[in-house]
Amino acid sequence: MQIVRTIAEFKVLRSDWADQNLTVSLVPTMGALHAGHLSLLGPARMADRLVVSIFVNPTQFGPNEDLLHYPRPLEQDLSLLERNGVDAVFLPAASEIYPAGYRTLVAVDELSSRLCGVSRPSHFRGVATVVLKLFNIIQPQWAVFGQKDAQQTVILRRMVQDLNLDVEVIVQPIVREIDGLALSSRNQYLNVAERKAATILFRSLEFAQQALTQGESKTDVLVSGVRQLIGSEPLARLDYAEIVNAADLSPVEQVGDNALLALAVFIGKTRLIDNAFLGRNK
Ligand code: PAJ
Repeated sequence: MQIVRTIAEFKVLRSDWADQNLTVSLVPTMGALHAGHLSLLGPARMADRLVVSIFVNPTQFGPNEDLLHYPRPLEQDLSLLERNGVDAVFLPAASEIYPAGYRTLVAVDELSSRLCGVSRPSHFRGVATVVLKLFNIIQPQWAVFGQKDAQQTVILRRMVQDLNLDVEVIVQPIVREIDGLALSSRNQYLNVAERKAATILFRSLEFAQQALTQGESKTDVLVSGVRQLIGSEPLARLDYAEIVNAADLSPVEQVGDNALLALAVFIGKTRLIDNAFLGRNK
């Protein structure tokens, strides 16, 4: 497995692959890898060469967020990737991606200000910017992302379409713990009581799915049930619960095909997100 730290070095490798007509896939990550990240490697293996990037992207963290404390178990990440058949890891320094004088940001309008964008107003601008840069550097035919970050996938698909990028975005299902908690690098911030309380996200998704099966399809009724359930967990504080169209994140009044229930909940100081399709997913 090659470890590449600079853009110049990656470009040499990439043009070597291009000379051999090899296809390339990319799995972008911020490291602290878990089984959710590893699940993205499966479809990425369809390419001749599989690249994983590890970069804790400063532009997607808000001023009071966890950039400095974000976990960085690099040795462990690299050995996991090596054992999982990754060909190259792109591991740039922040100064490599954002050198002095850096001024360009990618804004995917409107979609970036909904859901998580309300409490994290500059987050998706940072995500779109770094992902576009990674696409330009790595030049993958395929890029694989997780449904765990549903809004991120909608925004990145939009960016790919709007900017005529030649990369196919593939989205993989959410990987969960046995009790339903979605795997996340941030779960390690939770203490024992919080870890237990964190199942409230999955229980809320299940509650809504069950209520829908029992015939309740009005969004406001489903959402108020979810709010109530989350309110009943003392360690939880709701950021948002919304039912939206999964394709464009627009609000829906009645659950039909392709509706998505998206949640963000603080468990203590840790903000967790989760989501589930309601009704039939197109
Ligand atoms: P990160 O949070 O490290 O996640 C990297 C990828 O793993 C994302 O596509 C995310 O959706 C996916 N992922 C995380 N937990 C998952 C789970 N439980 N099941 C399935 N997939 C999961 O998302 C980012 O990094 C960054 O925003 C990034 C795209 C790398 C840009 O900086």
